[in-house]
Amino acid sequence: MLRKCDSSDLETIYSIINDAAQAYKGIIPTDRWKEPYMSREELRREMDEGVIFWGYEEDHELVGVMGIQHVQEVTLIRHAYVRTAKRHHGIGARVLSVLREQTTHPILVGTWADAAWAIRFYEKYGFRRVSPKEKDQLLRRYWSIPERQIETSVVLADRKWFDACQREVSDA
Ligand SMILES: CC(C)(COP(=O)(O)OP(=O)(O)OC[C@H]1O[C@@H](n2cnc3c(N)ncnc32)[C@H](O)[C@@H]1OP(=O)(O)O)[C@@H](O)C(=O)NCCC(=O)NCCS
Repeated sequence: MLRKCDSSDLETIYSIINDAAQAYKGIIPTDRWKEPYMSREELRREMDEGVIFWGYEEDHELVGVMGIQHVQEVTLIRHAYVRTAKRHHGIGARVLSVLREQTTHPILVGTWADAAWAIRFYEKYGFRRVSPKEKDQLLRRYWSIPERQIETSVVLADRKWFDACQREVSDA
Protein backbone atom coordinates (compact mmCIF):
# COMPACT_ATOMS: atom_id res chain seq x y z
CA MET A 1 0.00 0.00 0.00
CA LEU A 2 1.21 3.47 -0.89
CA ARG A 3 0.50 6.36 1.43
CA LYS A 4 1.58 9.84 2.37
CA CYS A 5 3.67 9.95 5.56
CA ASP A 6 3.43 12.47 8.38
CA SER A 7 5.44 13.53 11.41
CA SER A 8 4.31 10.43 13.33
CA ASP A 9 6.34 8.34 10.83
CA LEU A 10 9.59 10.16 11.59
CA GLU A 11 11.16 7.33 13.57
CA THR A 12 10.35 4.72 10.92
CA ILE A 13 11.57 6.95 8.09
CA TYR A 14 14.77 7.57 10.06
CA SER A 15 15.28 3.83 10.44
CA ILE A 16 14.61 3.09 6.73
CA ILE A 17 16.97 5.84 5.56
CA ASN A 18 19.82 4.71 7.76
CA ASP A 19 19.36 1.06 6.88
CA ALA A 20 19.17 1.74 3.12
CA ALA A 21 22.02 4.28 3.18
CA GLN A 22 24.42 1.48 4.11
CA ALA A 23 24.55 0.98 0.32
CA TYR A 24 26.67 4.14 0.14
CA LYS A 25 29.31 2.93 2.60
CA GLY A 26 32.62 2.46 0.79
CA ILE A 27 31.08 3.75 -2.46
CA ILE A 28 30.60 7.49 -1.97
CA PRO A 29 33.64 9.61 -1.05
CA THR A 30 34.76 8.79 2.51
CA ASP A 31 34.45 12.40 3.61
CA ARG A 32 30.75 12.36 2.68
CA TRP A 33 29.93 9.22 4.67
CA LYS A 34 28.77 9.43 8.26
CA GLU A 35 26.89 7.26 10.69
CA PRO A 36 24.03 7.63 11.11
CA TYR A 37 23.91 8.82 7.53
CA MET A 38 21.03 11.13 8.40
CA SER A 39 20.30 12.25 11.96
CA ARG A 40 16.78 12.66 13.36
CA GLU A 41 17.41 16.41 13.53
CA GLU A 42 18.37 16.62 9.84
CA LEU A 43 15.34 14.57 8.90
CA ARG A 44 13.02 16.74 11.01
CA ARG A 45 14.52 19.86 9.41
CA GLU A 46 13.99 18.46 5.92
CA MET A 47 10.33 17.73 6.74
CA ASP A 48 9.89 21.19 8.29
CA GLU A 49 11.38 22.71 5.13
CA GLY A 50 8.77 21.06 2.96
CA VAL A 51 9.95 17.57 2.07
CA ILE A 52 6.80 15.43 2.00
CA PHE A 53 7.45 11.72 2.26
CA TRP A 54 5.41 9.00 0.63
CA GLY A 55 5.91 5.41 1.59
CA TYR A 56 5.15 1.84 0.69
CA GLU A 57 3.72 -0.36 3.42
CA GLU A 58 3.93 -4.12 3.71
CA ASP A 59 1.98 -5.78 6.53
CA HIS A 60 1.14 -2.31 7.90
CA GLU A 61 4.80 -1.37 8.10
CA LEU A 62 6.64 1.18 5.97
CA VAL A 63 9.49 -0.46 4.06
CA GLY A 64 10.36 2.23 1.51
CA VAL A 65 10.09 6.01 1.42
CA MET A 66 10.72 8.86 -0.99
CA GLY A 67 10.32 12.57 -0.47
CA ILE A 68 8.99 15.24 -2.74
CA GLN A 69 9.69 18.95 -2.39
CA HIS A 70 8.19 21.76 -4.43
CA VAL A 71 10.80 24.50 -4.95
CA GLN A 72 10.11 27.54 -7.13
CA GLU A 73 8.99 26.20 -10.52
CA VAL A 74 10.26 22.62 -10.14
CA THR A 75 9.64 19.56 -8.01
CA LEU A 76 12.53 17.71 -6.41
CA ILE A 77 12.66 14.06 -5.48
CA ARG A 78 14.53 13.84 -2.21
CA HIS A 79 15.74 10.96 -0.06
CA ALA A 80 14.66 7.81 -1.88
CA TYR A 81 15.23 4.74 0.28
CA VAL A 82 13.98 1.17 0.32
CA ARG A 83 15.00 -1.19 3.13
CA THR A 84 18.00 -3.27 2.07
CA ALA A 85 16.08 -6.54 2.48
CA LYS A 86 13.18 -5.27 0.38
CA ARG A 87 15.03 -4.04 -2.70
CA HIS A 88 14.51 -5.20 -6.28
CA HIS A 89 10.83 -5.97 -5.81
CA GLY A 90 9.53 -2.88 -7.54
CA ILE A 91 8.84 -0.87 -4.37
CA GLY A 92 11.03 2.04 -5.47
CA ALA A 93 9.30 2.10 -8.85
CA ARG A 94 5.85 2.23 -7.21
CA VAL A 95 6.74 5.06 -4.85
CA LEU A 96 8.41 7.00 -7.68
CA SER A 97 5.30 6.62 -9.78
CA VAL A 98 2.99 7.98 -7.05
CA LEU A 99 5.33 10.94 -6.49
CA ARG A 100 5.21 11.79 -10.17
CA GLU A 101 1.42 12.05 -9.94
CA GLN A 102 1.75 14.74 -7.25
CA THR A 103 3.09 17.43 -9.56
CA THR A 104 2.67 18.99 -12.96
CA HIS A 105 6.05 20.73 -12.69
CA PRO A 106 9.35 19.48 -14.16
CA ILE A 107 10.99 16.96 -11.80
CA LEU A 108 14.65 16.92 -10.79
CA VAL A 109 16.51 14.40 -8.70
CA GLY A 110 20.01 14.56 -7.29
CA THR A 111 22.08 11.59 -6.26
CA TRP A 112 25.71 10.66 -5.65
CA ALA A 113 27.74 10.36 -8.86
CA ASP A 114 29.09 7.06 -7.50
CA ALA A 115 25.64 5.54 -6.85
CA ALA A 116 25.44 3.80 -10.24
CA TRP A 117 22.38 1.75 -9.21
CA ALA A 118 20.42 4.90 -8.31
CA ILE A 119 21.31 6.58 -11.63
CA ARG A 120 20.25 3.42 -13.49
CA PHE A 121 17.00 3.30 -11.48
CA TYR A 122 16.01 6.84 -12.49
CA GLU A 123 17.15 6.37 -16.10
CA LYS A 124 14.95 3.31 -16.34
CA TYR A 125 11.97 5.57 -15.59
CA GLY A 126 12.81 8.18 -18.18
CA PHE A 127 15.08 10.57 -16.29
CA ARG A 128 18.25 11.76 -18.00
CA ARG A 129 21.41 13.25 -16.63
CA VAL A 130 21.87 16.97 -17.13
CA SER A 131 25.28 18.32 -18.15
CA PRO A 132 27.90 18.92 -15.42
CA LYS A 133 27.48 22.69 -15.82
CA GLU A 134 23.70 22.51 -15.51
CA LYS A 135 24.09 20.17 -12.55
CA ASP A 136 26.12 22.75 -10.63
CA GLN A 137 23.63 25.50 -11.43
CA LEU A 138 20.59 23.41 -10.50
CA LEU A 139 22.04 22.16 -7.23
CA ARG A 140 22.90 25.72 -6.23
CA ARG A 141 19.52 27.05 -7.23
CA TYR A 142 17.13 24.47 -5.81
CA TRP A 143 19.01 22.54 -3.12
CA SER A 144 20.72 23.67 0.09
CA ILE A 145 23.74 21.39 0.14
CA PRO A 146 27.45 21.93 0.75
CA GLU A 147 29.83 22.67 -2.17
CA ARG A 148 31.53 19.29 -1.71
CA GLN A 149 28.20 17.51 -2.20
CA ILE A 150 27.63 19.52 -5.38
CA GLU A 151 31.01 18.35 -6.67
CA THR A 152 30.23 14.69 -5.97
CA SER A 153 26.61 14.59 -7.17
CA VAL A 154 24.71 14.25 -10.42
CA VAL A 155 21.29 15.62 -11.32
CA LEU A 156 18.75 13.82 -13.45
CA ALA A 157 15.70 15.49 -14.95
CA ASP A 158 12.47 14.28 -16.47
CA ARG A 159 11.25 14.87 -20.00
CA LYS A 160 9.26 17.94 -18.99
CA TRP A 161 12.40 19.68 -17.76
CA PHE A 162 14.33 18.97 -20.98
CA ASP A 163 11.33 20.10 -23.06
CA ALA A 164 11.11 23.36 -21.09
CA CYS A 165 14.86 23.97 -21.65
CA GLN A 166 14.46 23.39 -25.36
CA ARG A 167 11.57 25.88 -25.50
CA GLU A 168 13.70 28.47 -23.68
CA VAL A 169 16.49 28.00 -26.24
CA SER A 170 14.16 28.27 -29.23
CA ASP A 171 12.39 31.34 -27.75
CA ALA A 172 15.71 33.10 -27.17
C1 LIG B 1 17.29 3.28 -5.35
C2 LIG B 1 16.27 2.48 -4.55
C3 LIG B 1 15.36 3.42 -3.77
C4 LIG B 1 15.43 1.62 -5.51
O1 LIG B 1 14.47 0.88 -4.75
P1 LIG B 1 13.97 -0.58 -5.20
O2 LIG B 1 12.73 -0.90 -4.45
O3 LIG B 1 15.07 -1.56 -5.12
O4 LIG B 1 13.61 -0.28 -6.72
P2 LIG B 1 12.96 -1.28 -7.78
O5 LIG B 1 12.81 -2.65 -7.21
O6 LIG B 1 11.76 -0.60 -8.33
O7 LIG B 1 14.06 -1.25 -8.91
C5 LIG B 1 15.40 -1.63 -8.61
C6 LIG B 1 15.85 -2.70 -9.57
O8 LIG B 1 15.18 -3.91 -9.29
C7 LIG B 1 14.59 -4.41 -10.49
N1 LIG B 1 13.35 -5.11 -10.14
C8 LIG B 1 12.15 -4.57 -9.86
N2 LIG B 1 11.27 -5.53 -9.59
C9 LIG B 1 11.94 -6.70 -9.69
C10 LIG B 1 11.58 -8.04 -9.51
N3 LIG B 1 10.34 -8.39 -9.17
N4 LIG B 1 12.55 -8.99 -9.64
C11 LIG B 1 13.82 -8.66 -9.97
N5 LIG B 1 14.23 -7.39 -10.16
C12 LIG B 1 13.29 -6.43 -10.01
C13 LIG B 1 14.32 -3.18 -11.28
O9 LIG B 1 14.16 -3.47 -12.64
C14 LIG B 1 15.55 -2.38 -11.01
O10 LIG B 1 16.62 -2.86 -11.79
P3 LIG B 1 17.90 -1.98 -12.13
O11 LIG B 1 18.73 -1.96 -10.86
O12 LIG B 1 18.54 -2.69 -13.25
O13 LIG B 1 17.40 -0.60 -12.46
C15 LIG B 1 17.01 1.48 -3.58
O14 LIG B 1 17.96 0.76 -4.33
C16 LIG B 1 17.74 2.12 -2.42
O15 LIG B 1 17.16 2.42 -1.37
N6 LIG B 1 19.08 2.31 -2.57
C17 LIG B 1 19.93 2.87 -1.54
C18 LIG B 1 19.74 4.34 -1.40
C19 LIG B 1 19.78 5.05 -2.72
O16 LIG B 1 20.64 4.84 -3.55
N7 LIG B 1 18.82 5.96 -2.92
C20 LIG B 1 18.72 6.80 -4.09
C21 LIG B 1 19.12 8.17 -3.67
S1 LIG B 1 18.39 9.42 -4.63
